[in-house]
Amino acid sequence: MTFPNHFVWGAGASSFQIEGGAQEAGRTPSVWDMFCSKPGATWQGHSGAVACEHYQRYRDDVALMRQIGLPAYRLSISWSRVLPDGVGKVNHIGLDFYDRLIDELLAAHIAPWVTLFHWDYPIELYARGGWLSPDSPHWFADYVQTIVEKLSDRVRHWITLNEPQCFIHLGLQTGLHAPGDKLTLPLVLRAAHHTLLAHGQAVQSIRAASKQTCEIGLAPVGLAKIPATETAQDIEAARQAMFQMRDRTTWQTAFWLDPIFLGQYPADALELFGDAMPPIRVGDLETIHQPLDFFGVNHYSSPFVRAGKDGAPEEIPFAPGHPIAANRSFVVPETLYWGPRFYWERYHLPIVITENGLPTLDWIALDGKVHDTQRIDFTRRYLLEYERAARDGAQLKGYFHWSVMDNFEVTEGYRDRFGLIHVDFPTQRRTLKDSAHWYRRVIETNGASLHENPFHVY
Ligand code: FCB
Repeated sequence: MTFPNHFVWGAGASSFQIEGGAQEAGRTPSVWDMFCSKPGATWQGHSGAVACEHYQRYRDDVALMRQIGLPAYRLSISWSRVLPDGVGKVNHIGLDFYDRLIDELLAAHIAPWVTLFHWDYPIELYARGGWLSPDSPHWFADYVQTIVEKLSDRVRHWITLNEPQCFIHLGLQTGLHAPGDKLTLPLVLRAAHHTLLAHGQAVQSIRAASKQTCEIGLAPVGLAKIPATETAQDIEAARQAMFQMRDRTTWQTAFWLDPIFLGQYPADALELFGDAMPPIRVGDLETIHQPLDFFGVNHYSSPFVRAGKDGAPEEIPFAPGHPIAANRSFVVPETLYWGPRFYWERYHLPIVITENGLPTLDWIALDGKVHDTQRIDFTRRYLLEYERAARDGAQLKGYFHWSVMDNFEVTEGYRDRFGLIHVDFPTQRRTLKDSAHWYRRVIETNGASLHENPFHVY
């Protein structure tokens, strides 16, 4: 048994991906609402306008979470549901939705972990410059204060930003995510710096406004590298590859996390970006470098790396036939060993896997059930590696499966199903998948059941 006693088991989702109710009770559009209406932006033109109708069905959904026995649930708040202009006047009907949701969760003994920003940036603020505006950190910190004042008597866990790599690199540089812009590098880096400041100022807001002692982290994209063999040379090559700059983009690890956790931009980032970096004012790095309570990270897949001739890291291709997910990403359970281990070494905060999961092509079988054996096997393999990281000394604090239910998988629309709960979108009928029942036992045994073969049916 290596999962610690107070280890947090949970599952997650995000506002735009499940809520629907896009025009309900004063909510204004976010950049994702706008992006979905662009031709070709999402698979088959799908949008999150209806999604899982969680806005209307949250009570039933919490009851299902209770059936899974979830001790914790990671949700996010739709900024423009609460502040239709992004700043200023509060839409109390919108804010009350989260108030009721939190009460419902607590009544079901489920601890809410609240993400303050999971990509659905208010269109009204985008029109005022979005993350490019030097005011954007203040806008975010003010919005965060509103939320914390309302919910912190009951919410103890906060996550500031979900995956800045996605909403800045994919959102502003490649245009693959909302808002779909293709800005020049200096503008992207300016937006990135504001994003980091927004994180820091939000942490200050939370600490100042929270009505109880709370824990704060963020949820970046986990870009782990796996040593091809467990020799000292390959391990060192993977470690280097994980934190070094890959190219002149913000699809990076240390570029985002060193300022937050170590108080400085990495030297290789400053060198590679050179003049493209925005001016960094006195005090900026102090603002960004706020003490945090856990190291949240989202982990799915990772490449293998070996030490090349001069010891320099070299990524190696996957062997033909290496297991893949429905979205064609590679299945690499060692991600949950080497990711946590390297982060623990560098940043030394207890690790929370804020997302991990597998898209599969599930449907309801003739017996009325959803037999998602691949999700069970995937999660079991990843969690066994995570447990190994604990055995080897990394401090682990939690694991949130992505996702609690099938949802609007951003650019992939409703094609990729990540849920423990199956959603039949035309009828909104929910069905607990086999993986939900299996996960319940993992939770009950604090991971001990991971050592049992889950497939005794055949
Ligand atoms: C992550 C996102 C999450 C979900 C998963 C599959 O990048 O944070 O919202 O879409 O991928």
